[in-house]
Amino acid sequence: MTTPIKPINLFEYETLAKQHLSQMALDYYASGSWDEITLRDNRAAFERYKLCPRMLVDVSQRDLSTKILGQTLPLPILIAPMAFQCLAHPEGEIATAKAAAKLGSTMILSTLATKSIEEVASASQNPNYQLPITNYQLWFQLYVHRDRGLTKALVERAYKAGYQALCLTVDAPVLGKRERDTRNQFVLPPGMELANLTTVSDLEITYKPGESGLFAYFLEQLNPGLTWKDLEWVQSLSPLPLVVKGILRGDDAVRAVECGAKAIIVSNHGGRQLDSAIASIDALSQIVAAVGDKADILVDGGIRRGTDILKALALGAKAVLLGRPILWGLAVGGEAGVQHVIELLRAELDLAMALSGCAKLQDIDSSLVIRLSIN
Ligand code: FNR
Ligand code: LAC
Repeated sequence: MTTPIKPINLFEYETLAKQHLSQMALDYYASGSWDEITLRDNRAAFERYKLCPRMLVDVSQRDLSTKILGQTLPLPILIAPMAFQCLAHPEGEIATAKAAAKLGSTMILSTLATKSIEEVASASQNPNYQLPITNYQLWFQLYVHRDRGLTKALVERAYKAGYQALCLTVDAPVLGKRERDTRNQFVLPPGMELANLTTVSDLEITYKPGESGLFAYFLEQLNPGLTWKDLEWVQSLSPLPLVVKGILRGDDAVRAVECGAKAIIVSNHGGRQLDSAIASIDALSQIVAAVGDKADILVDGGIRRGTDILKALALGAKAVLLGRPILWGLAVGGEAGVQHVIELLRAELDLAMALSGCAKLQDIDSSLVIRLSIN
């Protein structure tokens, strides 16, 4: 018997995860929309930014803590909301929540989770973890359904269960076309359900001939008529601070802040919605410039290395969200896999900071990064 080799970076997790996932799950997780131009560009864009490190700075003590929504967090890495985590591991979102709570990373639970709002909240509060309770946060990601009563009930449940922010995803009035899912006629396997939507019997991801069941679900159930005006209604559902996810333009970011958003997530949904949309790291600077210090700016899409985080912070983000690598960690090793993925990235960021003359996140300023104008 050969001893399995433990991954030493996130790309090795990606390779290994392929052995643990069904073809349908792998395709669903990995896909971007249409030609996957944005999916590829989310990675390629990082290579266009170069670092200009400072020398002879005392970096013997490093501090990776940051402040988001007024709370101090031990590291600038959040876990992006991602649907259907039980496709990767039987414990799904529970395993992710436990790993997040252990490390003080904020997990954002998807509306389309395969574990319930309440189960995930209690998994996060496992008293065996060493961190004081204020060091982790749990946010709830909302998809506004056509049924307003159902949407309201989701937010009320999240508030009651102790979630600390409401993350409204605005880049998916309908689902982007992921052709691998169309080809596979994506559907959840028997026994797996939308754990937060079980009370409504017709809310299922069901088999649709020639189509992805999830694509059909969005078309039938989500409200494509949502506009800025509805943000007031969304905020009236609970006292939770509003985070708007999926912004790619400065004017939209300003509008979100005017409507009450306390944080903005610059995101193209991991290249899964509008193909050819700008890479999120390329959209970041203009949004930071437009919003200033009126809201916390976060970014996701293609973060795979500590240097990617360094670049994002240098361009003005307060923190980053990690998407697919969490699913790879989950598929390979459940809770321990997710924990290891975040630990690897945290260690890479720490090392990159030391090598660039930054002892704390506040030392990471815009002079640390330049963007090459050539492709
Ligand atoms: C997502 N994403 C997502 N976003 C959201 O707001 N609600 C959701 O339910 C989901 N579901 C989802 C499932 C899967 C399988 C993926 C890969 C992504 C988008 C996610 O939050 C995030 O924006 C991207 O995944 C970030 O890009 P990377 O890190 O995956 O490159
Ligand atoms: C996705 C949805 C669920 O990207 O956000 O698959």
